[in-house]
Amino acid sequence: MNRDKTYCPIGFFDSGYGGLTVLKEVMQTLPQYDYVYLGDNARAPYGSRSFESVYEYTLECVQKLFNMGCELIILACNTASAKALRTIQQKDLPGISPSKRVLGVIRPTTEVVKNYTKTNHIGLLATQGTVTSQSYPIELHKFAPEIQVFQQACPMWVPLIESGAANTPGADYFLETDIRQLLDQSSQIDTVILGCTHYPLLLSKIKKHLPPHVSIVMQGEIIAKSLQDYLQRHPEIENKCSKNGEVRFYTTDSAEQFSKQAAQFFGKEVKAEHIAV
Ligand code: DGL
Repeated sequence: MNRDKTYCPIGFFDSGYGGLTVLKEVMQTLPQYDYVYLGDNARAPYGSRSFESVYEYTLECVQKLFNMGCELIILACNTASAKALRTIQQKDLPGISPSKRVLGVIRPTTEVVKNYTKTNHIGLLATQGTVTSQSYPIELHKFAPEIQVFQQACPMWVPLIESGAANTPGADYFLETDIRQLLDQSSQIDTVILGCTHYPLLLSKIKKHLPPHVSIVMQGEIIAKSLQDYLQRHPEIENKCSKNGEVRFYTTDSAEQFSKQAAQFFGKEVKAEHIAV
């Protein structure tokens, strides 16, 4: 672990590989900063876990990232953003260090989604945990009460991706079924949010099952833009972030396995280290 006092990377957390789809976009927009990625692969997926477990695991990983020197952490995981973010921000952070920040991915997504829809009927594809939390309808209601959100949990999608089975015909069955169930909720849905950072890996298959007029909202670019704005608005945080353009990857499971699979999410070679939480 780096003990250099000037090392202050921006931390990215996900239950597994999904957050890499966000980090990839962030690093294209903001290449100057240092980044550290932590995937809790040993305990993934989080999607069907209880509120208590997701909160406990997320907090442990957040603490780990703070110990590595992070002042700012992005929960690049909708499930953790839905189930753990608010409690960490309100209950834990003041005791850990009031100057540190933890941000999620749901709010920035809901802030821009009204730019995509004309019918105000939006579909959400996400994990069971994110759907049950009602975080998307609650957040969206604050900015755009005229928008109706139709949600569909896709409990098999993350396990299919994490097990490397995303491109099998079996995956098509689950995608088709879940997408049909979403579209059956309203014929006016013209925008679908991929509300799980793993799902961009399924994009070509998702497109096959959605009518061509439906816009697909992915979070990578949205989070990159929103982080850029955040850093501009918060010089007290931005000044602390170290700027060597370096990235490190950690996983709570096998580093070898992570390095092998991560490239398809990140778009280039990844060399990970194991870390215990
Ligand atoms: N990438 C996580 C999300 O955005 C996946 C959750 C899981 O581990 O099931 O929700």
